[in-house]
Amino acid sequence: MKQKTTISVFKADVGGPGHMKPFPEMVREIKTYLYGHGDLFKSAHVSTTGDDITIILGHSRGPNDPGIHELCFKAFVAATEMAKRMNAYAAGQDLFSTAFCGNLAGMGPQIIEMEVEERGGETFVLFCLDKTRAGALNGALRRMFGEVGTNTGLLHSSLMQQGYIFEVQDNYFEGPGERVVRLNTRTEMAELTALLVNDDRYVIRSVMSAATGEVGAMVSTFCLDRHSETHVGKDDPVALVRVQGVWPALGDVLNPFSLIFLVAGGMRGSHRVPLMPVKVSTPVSDSDGPAVISAQVFCTCGGVLTPPEDGFDQPTWDEVRRKTAKIATWLRSIEPDGTTLPPEEIEYHGIHETVKRLQPRFIVTNKPESK
Ligand code: 13P
Ligand code: MG
Ligand code: MG
Repeated sequence: MKQKTTISVFKADVGGPGHMKPFPEMVREIKTYLYGHGDLFKSAHVSTTGDDITIILGHSRGPNDPGIHELCFKAFVAATEMAKRMNAYAAGQDLFSTAFCGNLAGMGPQIIEMEVEERGGETFVLFCLDKTRAGALNGALRRMFGEVGTNTGLLHSSLMQQGYIFEVQDNYFEGPGERVVRLNTRTEMAELTALLVNDDRYVIRSVMSAATGEVGAMVSTFCLDRHSETHVGKDDPVALVRVQGVWPALGDVLNPFSLIFLVAGGMRGSHRVPLMPVKVSTPVSDSDGPAVISAQVFCTCGGVLTPPEDGFDQPTWDEVRRKTAKIATWLRSIEPDGTTLPPEEIEYHGIHETVKRLQPRFIVTNKPESK
């Protein structure tokens, strides 16, 4: 049997100057730690998007390997220690614990692990988002796989015409476990769309080919504030999307991000903001926004990743960025009126205290006289 490749992605915000970007010294610590343990994996790449650091590893140890999880945990701890030495803001923000307990899942970082039997020409995109949540990808993923206007392969391929199975997770479910539903784009596109418009609650967590049963996309869906009373910060998900063959073409996968989605996050994590497609390493500096997404395109050969190409480094995206910046400026100008998230989604909880303090001052007027 052909050996499978595991692509493991771990992302965390462990501090920096404001919520802008990590210090290069922190990234260096991560690389030094990883390459000091290079026998565990076949290749590694470290990048930043906004204030988040993303590690991607190619290996053959399978998902949930304790060695790989501990390695990445300790790499983030090393970056946190550097952040503390530099007196960085929010040092260790996304690490719930400094003690490793066997698996990084549930400890704060966003994680995706995809096991694939490599095709000839195995190509995939790593998306990293900052100042937003997993639901930010709902509209784009629905279009890139399910809509013929975006996924032009649907016109040509009988395999693609069998549809894609979307696995949608209910983020309001308190567990134990995760509540999910599977819908096929070929027969249930309207139902899928009906769910996905509530992007705080229903988020896509994976996409499979109905024809082959293989996984083509995965999104990290860990909600930090539902697992910690004190955590401040957005989830800032990561996603992997395979391209070409039975999957959408690379251009079809990137195309939806020219639409400029309004997503939850930005400005103290409490407002709707536009999602800007950016080059890798772009800082976030205008009112903690707008929300951003980067796209790194890799090939893998036996678990060895090529150096990534930047999917949003092309003049088309400069135009999209300009449009996004205009929308962001306009929305900021009317904040907080009509732009704030629902109370339960607002990240900075002080506003709840302010509103609570005002409650005793309410009076009931025009009360009907009792007879
Ligand atoms: P991060 O999750 O990127 O740290 O964002 C924090 C925030 O919302 C600042 O406004
Ligand atoms: Mg931050
Ligand atoms: Mg962040």
